[in-house]
Amino acid sequence: MNITFVGGGNMASALIGGLLQQDYPGAQIHVVEINAENREKIKHQFGVTTGTELRAGIIDRDVIILAVKPQQLFTVAKQLAPLLAGQLVISIAAGIRTSDLSRWLGSYDYIVRAMPNTPSLIRAGVTGLYALPTVINQQKENATSILNAVGLVLWVEQEALLDAVTAISGSGPAYVFYFMEAMLQVGVELGLSIEQARQLTLQTFLGAVQLAGQSEEDVGILRSRVTSKGGTTEQALLKMEQEDIKNAIVRAVHVAFKRAQQMGDELGSL
Ligand SMILES: NC(=O)c1ccc[n+]([C@@H]2O[C@H](COP(=O)([O-])OP(=O)(O)OC[C@H]3O[C@@H](n4cnc5c(N)ncnc54)[C@H](OP(=O)(O)O)[C@@H]3O)[C@@H](O)[C@H]2O)c1
Repeated sequence: MNITFVGGGNMASALIGGLLQQDYPGAQIHVVEINAENREKIKHQFGVTTGTELRAGIIDRDVIILAVKPQQLFTVAKQLAPLLAGQLVISIAAGIRTSDLSRWLGSYDYIVRAMPNTPSLIRAGVTGLYALPTVINQQKENATSILNAVGLVLWVEQEALLDAVTAISGSGPAYVFYFMEAMLQVGVELGLSIEQARQLTLQTFLGAVQLAGQSEEDVGILRSRVTSKGGTTEQALLKMEQEDIKNAIVRAVHVAFKRAQQMGDELGSL
């Protein structure tokens, strides 16, 4: 599979790094990047070929990955439209729906939309994927193997579910960092150094995630295991229940979901 990236910034670098780490041949990757600094960086870091132009010879590939910012996608799509001849187009631009991208590409059928998250930058991401029904199985397998290079991959059957993916795993790292900020604050208030608080907090998240991942029990049961009667955890969780924290988080994630829907409407209105 030959791949062309359009846009060679953070996400393209993460994907290319992941592909090369899986022994994917760099000679089969080309990057179209208008930003000279990013172009040089990607060329030297990965040894892939780079250029500035979208033209027939360059785009005549199996897969084209659109990795520009959402606001830049309309312009790129208009340039790309006359050059398409059956290639799989994968868009990682947040919020832009396949129906809008297809329209911008002149009613193009072979589109997969991907919603990765920031841990993809260290290959610990999770990506939601949706394909137009016309995308063939081989193309879906290609999309899976490319996005697998930066983490887990999860296909959804309806595109609307990518807004849920955005609300859960797209924005999710920020929710986790927010919880961490609170833990760090308390650690320091209770006399630990910032470094000690950081080590305790990070290892607690890492350990809890690994425990949940390796356990067959659901997270509610795992939580109850840490909560002995009359102990410290019980007191903390009681306080969280009184402050309605779980419901506040649920309401906040619903707001993220609604915003993802709105952004889809706004970004696709061109
Ligand atoms: N970063 C994440 O964790 C993350 C997570 C989920 C989804 N995404 C999505 O991934 C996409 C890329 O994000 P990013 O963080 O990698 O952005 P980025 O670092 O800004 O990379 C985009 C690159 O594309 C270049 N570019 C702009 N127009 C171009 C054109 N017409 N032809 C070729 N290159 C062009 C930009 O140049 P200039 O800098 O000069 O504009 C920039 O170097 C976004 O749509 C974002 O929504 C990112």
